[in-house]
Amino acid sequence: MATCERSGFQALAWLLCLIFAHLFASTMAFPRSSLSSSLKVGFYGSTCPSAEAVVRKTVNKAVSRNLGIAAGLIRMHFHDCFVRGCDASVLLDSTPGNLSEKEHPANNPSLRGFQVINKAKAKLEALCPETVSCADIIAFAARDSALKVGGINYTVPGGRRDGRVSRKDEVAESLPPPHFNAKQLELRFARKGLSLDEMVTLSGAHSIGMSHCSSFSKRLYSNGTHAHDPSMRRKYVSSLRTKCHPQRKGGQNPTVPLEAKTPGRLDNKYYKELEKHRGLLNSDQTLMSSQSTAWMVRNNARHGSTWAAKFAAAMVHMGSIDVLTETQGEIRRSCHVVN
Ligand code: HEM
Ligand SMILES: *[C@@H]1O[C@H](CO)[C@@H](O)[C@H](O)[C@H]1NC(C)=O
Ligand SMILES: *[C@@H]1O[C@H](CO)[C@@H](O)[C@H](O)[C@H]1NC(C)=O
Ligand SMILES: *[C@@H]1O[C@H](CO)[C@@H](O)[C@H](O)[C@H]1NC(C)=O
Repeated sequence: MATCERSGFQALAWLLCLIFAHLFASTMAFPRSSLSSSLKVGFYGSTCPSAEAVVRKTVNKAVSRNLGIAAGLIRMHFHDCFVRGCDASVLLDSTPGNLSEKEHPANNPSLRGFQVINKAKAKLEALCPETVSCADIIAFAARDSALKVGGINYTVPGGRRDGRVSRKDEVAESLPPPHFNAKQLELRFARKGLSLDEMVTLSGAHSIGMSHCSSFSKRLYSNGTHAHDPSMRRKYVSSLRTKCHPQRKGGQNPTVPLEAKTPGRLDNKYYKELEKHRGLLNSDQTLMSSQSTAWMVRNNARHGSTWAAKFAAAMVHMGSIDVLTETQGEIRRSCHVVN
């Protein structure tokens, strides 16, 4: 800052000096987060020009056959980015001494879409070997899914590289469980650099896809105090009880839509359902029960296109969490094993 001499400079020069001083200072103070800025839109423009088109085609084909794949791929990006950053650690298989993230109950058996990533990767390895990272493929696939089932169109910067470590025991401390309340969710997202509004915005992904009964069935039955979670509408409780029984016979664990009105469409109906006390997970309904977030739910319920734009921006932000770039990590040849 001592180099910013005011005397003799014009206001503009002073401002520029301040900006550079700030950029320099923040680079020194937060070398890790500054790396995320080295992600670039069109990253594969010269090294593998058809990379994004290949991913999109693969995703569109898979989602046309099974809408649920879109939900799986959007969730996969979240589960990748929150654990060790967006480094495709979620794709790695366990090794003899180490169980990988895949084995954690948050991912196994519910996370889906792995075959789509593998298919896109195989095509890209044939086209441009050792060039396109698995972490970027996940980010592109999530974006392509949001376009296909939500008409939400946005660009995603590339340049993520793949990590070499994946540990089952790191999942629980990073991913929020479905019984969390708004304050606990806020803290989990804040730890990853995401705001309260981004947390509420991204939860709108629960407008699509399915949940197993085990993720919410405690809410349906008496716990000694209440016949069911009082924040859930009675009719919704009764209809869910027909699917999710208190004693799971033979380990059965059925699935129900996270948002029952338009379960195959990524839209703001999720928030309208929360207003009607028809949020499936505690982590959903808490956004309406909590003072700090209820007004955000109402805004998102009212203004669908504003929510969609915020969703796109928040997905891009989430996609920059603790990324590996340049000489860090590697470009995996096969997404489920390190090179
Ligand atoms: C706010 C904290 C969150 C919690 C506690 C949470 C929890 C869950 C749970 C428990 C399920 C159902 C799993 C099952 O039982 O099968 C689920 C599904 C899903 N989640 Fe989240 N989630 C959160 C945020 C997010 C975010 C940020 C995204 C993406 C941007 C996301 C996308 C999805 C999708 C698309 C599904 C449906 C998956 C499918 O049908 O395969 N979730 N989530
Ligand atoms: C398990 O992972 C740890 C840390 O990533 C590593 O140091 C260790 O060598 C691994 N063990 C095996 C058997 O792969
Ligand atoms: C998405 O937006 C881009 C430009 O921003 C446009 O070229 C493209 O056609 C759009 N795609 C769809 C499917 O709307
Ligand atoms: C029972 O559930 C209600 C509503 O979810 C909750 O407020 C109460 O603390 C729970 N009681 C016990 C004993 O878990």
